[in-house]
Amino acid sequence: MANAHLENPIPTTEWFCESVAKTREAGCQLAGLLRGGEVLSLEGPLGAGKTTFVQGLAEGLGCRAEEVSSPTFTLVHEYPDGHLPFVHLDLYRLESPKELAALGFDDLLSGSTIAAIEWGDKFPEALPPHTQRLVFSMDGDARKIRRLP
Ligand SMILES: Nc1ncnc2c1ncn2[C@@H]1O[C@H](COP(=O)(O)OP(=O)(O)O)[C@@H](O)[C@H]1O
Ligand SMILES: [Mg+2]
Repeated sequence: MANAHLENPIPTTEWFCESVAKTREAGCQLAGLLRGGEVLSLEGPLGAGKTTFVQGLAEGLGCRAEEVSSPTFTLVHEYPDGHLPFVHLDLYRLESPKELAALGFDDLLSGSTIAAIEWGDKFPEALPPHTQRLVFSMDGDARKIRRLP
């Protein structure tokens, strides 16, 4: 089965990032563990470092990381040109799962595409069962990222 690896979660359960650069580095490091088809739900308050982490993910996946910005207004950014296809979503401004369907959510998440979904916990029932949840929290300039079991 092509996507059998999706049954095994990423091994790291926690990152502690003392700076923006460290948060970005954590994303880059995680990118090296992904094999395709993973769905990451990035959860936690505004400013907790979700978009910064995605910049690192994009860099690690060989995408043009400098183009990564918060998709709060555009909702979806697709990066087809890296080692693996990558899509970055932000559900912050969505009001219903219907809007998600209208974005073509299921098609975006297909095949070997890696998805990073900010505010993925807004519509948990819309996420595939193999979704891995990363919870971001902040303490001054430090950010903690914890993978839920
Ligand atoms: N250790 C850190 N990691 C990430 N961002 C940090 C850190 N310390 C301070 N910041 C600041 O916090 C904000 C994080 O923003 P962002 O990544 O867009 O968060 P989110 O997407 O969760 O709303 C930025 O303004 C950044 O400069
Ligand atoms: Mg963000």
